[in-house]
Amino acid sequence: MSKFNEARSQTHAPLAEAIAQYAAANTIRLHTPGHAGGQGWNASWQRDFATAGAWDITELTGLADGHSTEYWVSAAQELAAEAFGAKATFFLTGGSSLGIQTVLTACAGPGDEVLLPRNAHQSVIHGLALCGATPRFIPVPSSPDGIPGTITPEALEAVLRATVRPRLVVLLSPSYQGFCPDLAALVAVAHRAGVPVFVDEAHGAHFPFHAAFPPSAGRCGADAWVQSAHKTLGAFTGAALLHIGNGAFAPDAIRRSLQIHATTSPSYLLMASIDEARRIMSLKGQELWGQAIHYCEQIRQAAAGLEYMQLAELATMRDYGAAAQDPTRIVFRVQGLSGVKVAAALRRNNITAEYADNRHVCLIIPYSLTEAAAQNIVEVITKLVEVVPVDSGESSPGGESSPGQSPPAAQGRGAAISFPPLAPMVMTLRQALTAPFEEVKLAVAVGRIAAAIVAFYPPGIPLVIPGEKISPEIVEYIQEMSRQTGSYPGPASEGRIWVVAESAVKSR
Ligand SMILES: Cc1ncc(COP(=O)(O)O)c(C=O)c1O
Repeated sequence: MSKFNEARSQTHAPLAEAIAQYAAANTIRLHTPGHAGGQGWNASWQRDFATAGAWDITELTGLADGHSTEYWVSAAQELAAEAFGAKATFFLTGGSSLGIQTVLTACAGPGDEVLLPRNAHQSVIHGLALCGATPRFIPVPSSPDGIPGTITPEALEAVLRATVRPRLVVLLSPSYQGFCPDLAALVAVAHRAGVPVFVDEAHGAHFPFHAAFPPSAGRCGADAWVQSAHKTLGAFTGAALLHIGNGAFAPDAIRRSLQIHATTSPSYLLMASIDEARRIMSLKGQELWGQAIHYCEQIRQAAAGLEYMQLAELATMRDYGAAAQDPTRIVFRVQGLSGVKVAAALRRNNITAEYADNRHVCLIIPYSLTEAAAQNIVEVITKLVEVVPVDSGESSPGGESSPGQSPPAAQGRGAAISFPPLAPMVMTLRQALTAPFEEVKLAVAVGRIAAAIVAFYPPGIPLVIPGEKISPEIVEYIQEMSRQTGSYPGPASEGRIWVVAESAVKSR
């Protein structure tokens, strides 16, 4: 039996094994990368990154057993397709962002309309600008507490009816906060209208590996879906998976588009880490996630018993479209405290949260969480009001208020700020993103046209997209959110925003 046939088993990580074999052979490396297996590094790097140096290779015709890197990548991708329930899978080294831009440019072009929820990630908006299609936003309800819900089949149907040339439906599942729409129903609505579905499952790469998770996009009949293997699986940052289902998309059409966007020098270290992450999930995912879910239940129970703490739960979010929740995403708020302050208190207790905003804190529980760490989280959460003096409301994490800005009564306490209403789009995405632009003070930007996405990161959900006219509500939202969180959304420098130059608006 050839090594390749042996490698067609979930117990193998063929790419990782082939690279390990090459690294062990210790050949004289006369190829890129120039650090030559780490030998060109200084002593501390040689010590700290010895294996990473040896594994960081380029395309080779003879990687291991006489086979090329391409051969081993194919073997690893086939195993991934089997494990994730896809017809074909591509390893990505540029994150889910790369997969999103690949699929959009493969499927849609100028004159086409793409339906998507307004809380889509910024990479979706950038993908639309690249392909030139027109976005048709599906409204996303939000809880009174400011947590985005999900779109509903009825909302999708309504927008589909109002769309002339629907080319693609892009869905988000799960949301950053771990809530999923009724994916199977949404896919059925789109397919009934003859429109293929692409799912941004960046935060749900773990869904296929435990029955307690919401159903994965693959199981719900998506035509393609993308997952960040680095977000919830064990792969290195930047590693992601693009899956093709049994529907409308030909894997070769996606492969051609991938060639446009992907580097010709992908990191094999990252790809090997996807291979290994898949092996861990296939062999032990059920057991590892079962344990992690058990710890999540303990953390949730402890939090639910505390008067001052509110968990974001499915029971509430059902009213805002959600049909399922990722149990490993714990989102909560502490009454009277901003999320940023709570996260800072956790950090002082050696716990680093994924994300915090003016109200909420978001924890991503990894499959490797130990019992001791889980106990620690429970203890720290239970005494959170003791470790954080209740905010007097006199100061904000962002420092002093600017002159002329009257601090709202609940400043610093995580007051709810409503998401600004959608601004009218007065220029196409692509025109606005490629037009000459200037940086102006936010305070004088009302009425100007946005020249770049404005998004707090994380979660990277655009408040403003290029081509939209900046409204007073948007300016107020950015000012207030920045004051409460102490962070400013780029890409412009603090207190400023990029807008389309007047000359470009006049010359249209
Ligand atoms: C919902 C969503 N989609 C896509 C992405 C992009 O993923 P990546 O960072 O792997 O490119 C992110 C990243 O945060 C995200 O939150």
